[in-house]
Amino acid sequence: MPVTLLRGENLRLYPQFRIEPNPSLNLIIGANAAGKTSLLEALFTGARGRSFRAASLAEVCGARGQGWHVFMETMEADDHHRIGLGWSREGVRLHLDEDRHARVEDVVRAVPMQLIDPLAHRLLDEGPTYRRSFVDWGVFHVEHRFLDCWRRYQRSLRQRNRALREKAPARAVRAWDEELSHSGEELNRMRQSHLEASSEGLKNWCQRLLDTEAVRCEWQRGWPADDSLHQTLERNLEQHQRLGTTVQGPHRAEMRITLAQSRAKGRVSRGQQKLLIAAMVLAQSEVLAASSATWPILLLDDFASELAADFQQRLAWALQQYPGQKFITAFEVPSAFRSGSPMEVFHVEHGIVSASPHLH
Ligand SMILES: Nc1ncnc2c1ncn2[C@@H]1O[C@H](COP(=O)(O)OP(=O)(O)O)[C@@H](O)[C@H]1O
Ligand SMILES: [Mg+2]
Repeated sequence: MPVTLLRGENLRLYPQFRIEPNPSLNLIIGANAAGKTSLLEALFTGARGRSFRAASLAEVCGARGQGWHVFMETMEADDHHRIGLGWSREGVRLHLDEDRHARVEDVVRAVPMQLIDPLAHRLLDEGPTYRRSFVDWGVFHVEHRFLDCWRRYQRSLRQRNRALREKAPARAVRAWDEELSHSGEELNRMRQSHLEASSEGLKNWCQRLLDTEAVRCEWQRGWPADDSLHQTLERNLEQHQRLGTTVQGPHRAEMRITLAQSRAKGRVSRGQQKLLIAAMVLAQSEVLAASSATWPILLLDDFASELAADFQQRLAWALQQYPGQKFITAFEVPSAFRSGSPMEVFHVEHGIVSASPHLH
């Protein structure tokens, strides 16, 4: 669902800006500290209700006022949305179309958006939380039951853990096992079927980006393979009581990623990691498009970082194949994009954005 208009006010270094993006490819070009990432942040924050680089919405506020806001219009065929997100000391206001008190989840659902930035390697290098959220973001978009199921799981897990922490009698702990294992099994089924749905696509993208189909995302569901979650909870009750927490379940799931037999964590170069993550995002986006008929918007910050010329060429080619809308930042127009599909180039300088006609 492409963004056709983006406006912002008092966002970081921008007093205000207004751009009309291309439905396919947008390049955001500028020097260091010109405001490239801030534009991506405006898009991301508008679509996801949170920033990808600030812990709080307050940090996004510029120097010229007490608050900030971002406004977006999206359009695809007959589907049209208007989204407004405003922050001030009084609170946050989120509008979606006629709804003046929209929920973040409705906006996230309406405008699927995914980001690859220079910290994206954390998806491979750091703890399992990153991999679980990556998978869950996809499941959220393809399975309408996901959010409800995830919330039921989190609620019963919290309650069970509280009973464990407070050393409540075993029956008070067990009281949560039914709900926990029911929602947990369902959560796991949704995650696994989402991964299966994207595995062919992932191999294809890896072949084209990294010359190998040998990519594996092995899902470890968070409890032993032969047992139901209910049996696992029962069997390990004593251990959980001793530790004061539930140590098995989908909240402990992990995805082990290997590329050509090498563990993606630590054994694969940064440039390869970047292309592998691009392949994961592209494959997942295809699954979303197949189920919801809308292509997620991709944001790519610092296109060239970690990539020599041939890897840049490959990534540019892959992104040009991708039918959804793209926003890509770089210091200068990468030569890999100089020919090919129509695009819009936005030059940013000290918080001023100007559009220039596309180059060929
Ligand atoms: N909350 C803020 N208010 C005003 N200026 C800010 C704020 N946060 C960051 N900046 C300024 O914005 C600039 C960084 O913008 P950024 O979008 O990260 O640039 P780029 O990605 O082009 O390198 C820096 O000069 C920084 O001082
Ligand atoms: Mg930047």
